[in-house]
Amino acid sequence: MITMRLDKFLTEALGITRKQATKLLKDSQITLNDQIIKQGATKLTDSDTVVFDERELSLTGPRYIMLNKPGGFVCSHVDDYNPTVFVLLDEVAPEKLHVAGRLDCDTTGLVLLTDDGQWSHRITSPKHVCEKVYHVELADPVEPVVIEQFAEGVMLKGEKVATRPALLELLSPTEAIIKITEGKYHQVKRMFAATGNKVIGLHRAQVGPIELDDDLAPGEYRDLSPEEIAAFQK
Ligand code: URA
Repeated sequence: MITMRLDKFLTEALGITRKQATKLLKDSQITLNDQIIKQGATKLTDSDTVVFDERELSLTGPRYIMLNKPGGFVCSHVDDYNPTVFVLLDEVAPEKLHVAGRLDCDTTGLVLLTDDGQWSHRITSPKHVCEKVYHVELADPVEPVVIEQFAEGVMLKGEKVATRPALLELLSPTEAIIKITEGKYHQVKRMFAATGNKVIGLHRAQVGPIELDDDLAPGEYRDLSPEEIAAFQK
C-alpha cells in the first residue's frame, strides 16, 4: 500500500511549512475520512480523503525530487532481484513518478524523479546537451593519455559513433571526476573499459546545474527548489 505522512501531505497540498501543518492539526482543523486527526505522523493511503476548510485536498501539480541513491537499488519500477528506488519514497502514488536519467544498480548518488515528462526529456534527450558529473574509482591507475582520449571521444564496443568529448580530471591515479554530456547504457564503465581499465565505484554528483545535496544521506530525498526545477524549464 502506498503511504505518506499526513503532515508532509499538508505541507505539499497547501504549500505550508511542517510547523504550520502541525498547528492546523493541533487546532483540529484537519479531517481524515470525516474524523478530526491531530497526529502528523498518521499514514495516508491513496483512498483517504483529507479536508481542510471544507475543501478536499489533493496533491496536484508536477513533482520534482532529488534522491541520494544508495547502491543496490534499481532505477526501474519493477525488478525481479533488487529493490527499486521507488521503495525509498514516502510519497503518494510513486508509480506516477519516473527517473530522469537512470543509474546502474551499483551506482550511487544523484537521481532526479518527476512526473513531468517534458521536464525529464530536457535531461535525457540526446538533442539536449546536459552535463552529468561522476566521481569514479578505478581498479588500475589511469594513464594520463586517457584524458586526451576522452576529450577526443572514444569508440565504445557495439557503437558506430565515438562518444562526445568528455572531461576527465584525475584526483589520484585511481580516482577521477568525469563530465559527460550523453547517457549511453553503462557509458562511464564502457568508456574506461575501452581504455583497458575497470570502474569499481561510481557516484553521480551533478546533473546539469543540479548538485546532489550534501545534507541527504544515502536513501534520503527532498523536493527540488523552484530554482532547481527552473534549470530544466524553457
Ligand atoms: N555510466 C555508467 O556506466 N553507469 C551509470 O550508472 C551511469 C553512467
